[in-house]
Amino acid sequence: MDILMSNWSNVGQSLPENYIFPPDKRPGKHVFPVLKDVPVIDLGHDRAEVIQQILSASQDFGFFEVINHDVPISLMEDTMNVFKELFGMEAEYKASFYSTEISKKCRLYSSTMNYDNEEVHYWRDNLTHHCYPLQDQIELWPQKPTRYRKVVGAYSIEARKFLLRILDHIREGLGLKPGYFNGELSKIQLLSVNHHIPCPNPSLTLGMPEHSDPNLITVLQQCSVPGLQFFRNGQWMNVESITDRLIVVPGLQLKVISNGRFSSPIHRVITNSEEYRTTIGTFLIPSNEIVIEPSKDCAGDDHDPVYRGFTYKEFFSAFTESNCDARIALEFFKNKTK
Ligand code: OGA
Ligand code: NI
Repeated sequence: MDILMSNWSNVGQSLPENYIFPPDKRPGKHVFPVLKDVPVIDLGHDRAEVIQQILSASQDFGFFEVINHDVPISLMEDTMNVFKELFGMEAEYKASFYSTEISKKCRLYSSTMNYDNEEVHYWRDNLTHHCYPLQDQIELWPQKPTRYRKVVGAYSIEARKFLLRILDHIREGLGLKPGYFNGELSKIQLLSVNHHIPCPNPSLTLGMPEHSDPNLITVLQQCSVPGLQFFRNGQWMNVESITDRLIVVPGLQLKVISNGRFSSPIHRVITNSEEYRTTIGTFLIPSNEIVIEPSKDCAGDDHDPVYRGFTYKEFFSAFTESNCDARIALEFFKNKTK
């Protein structure tokens, strides 16, 4: 059978064995509670107020949703439709993008980049490509659907603008100097589109493992089909899928820079038996050689730095070595407590 699940013509009645997780990792047959108290930030409000809200949302809750974000809703819809169309295209076309090579700057794969060595696969296909600087990357992108480059190009610009705006609020809230997150700390922009076909038995498998995002910051656009869960107060909880909002998830590098004030929440994706689910993630990532460390303003005289400085390259090799578990990788850079 084709590795890409979106090419399967018939999924069948039961879940293939190599998608069944061990009992302790399965979501089970629970009806998961819905997160009712996700902070909603209105970017149209007064800047000082927004800064306070973003800071307390990140520190006390872990992540937040944004309305009045200035990313045109029609562009969000167009982009979502382009990705749905792409995943519906013929197998041969999609196969030309298939790769598990990290060096490939535009790739389609299934489950994780470690597909060939996995015992159990995650129930997802994924499209990942670089987006910045646009003119250097766009030539590598799909050309079908024919509007792909135009629409996704416009979306990438808006998503970057949005994340830099959020980062500037965070910067001011943490007392960091203007431009702190611009440049090398946010140099790499990756688009990551998850696509899950309907699953015969959602209680036995996962669409994405539990994880914290390894990057600096993430924005997620959901479709109307739920699946994203956060681990909160000792249990997994569903995020309501509201298609015109953007979900901001601080990554582990923000946890380091803020000296632990930000937490980078744990989340995962479950599947469903009825509908296709597509989500659009945009990640800002530090360039390889830049040193990431607790900022002097966050780890002041009375706060010892919790982490030692490291380059993103060092972090990324620790990440691969720890089986792509970013939280384990980060432990490696923790200072010993006196
Ligand atoms: C991610 C992620 C969630 C989703 O890409 O890191 O957590 O809803 N995605 O697809
Ligand atoms: Ni994530």
